[in-house]
Amino acid sequence: MASALQTVSVTVNEETRLLTLPDDTPLLFIVRQDFALKGTRHGCGEGQCGACTVLVNGLPVQSCQTPLWSLAGQKVTTIEGLAPGAISLVQQVFLEEQAAQCGYCTNGIMMTVAALIARRPLPSRHDVLEMLDERHLCRCGAHIRILRAIDRLLGADVETKA
Ligand code: FES
Ligand code: FES
Repeated sequence: MASALQTVSVTVNEETRLLTLPDDTPLLFIVRQDFALKGTRHGCGEGQCGACTVLVNGLPVQSCQTPLWSLAGQKVTTIEGLAPGAISLVQQVFLEEQAAQCGYCTNGIMMTVAALIARRPLPSRHDVLEMLDERHLCRCGAHIRILRAIDRLLGADVETKA
């Protein structure tokens, strides 16, 4: 059955646009095409890899599995919106630890980590690793460096913006 067109007010990184698109258009396409934000990666497109992860109302979601019709009244944050005009703490620590190889998975992982360390009290290392294990794939050899970055973020210096 063909998708119906729907008009929805979509807010990404504090910018709101009225979009008329097929109602099942994935948020992934909306952020990359309609908002021209290319930091959110298109990986599997099937909810398996986590490369497309963004935040909706502060919670990590797979944007390839999030349709237009579900976005009315929701606040979407992409990697570009974590610390507008600056570099977020998560990005800074991932950079310092060189926690990427090809980098395709990295922005999605950083979004999930940012959401987790924004929680108070902080989640345990086990909780963070369990969530990453469930939601993200990295095909390169960056795992140890990603773990080092997470350990630092779960340490003392997490009071600044995630
Ligand atoms: S591109 Fe969305 S989970 Fe892989
Ligand atoms: S760094 Fe290449 S997929 Fe993770």
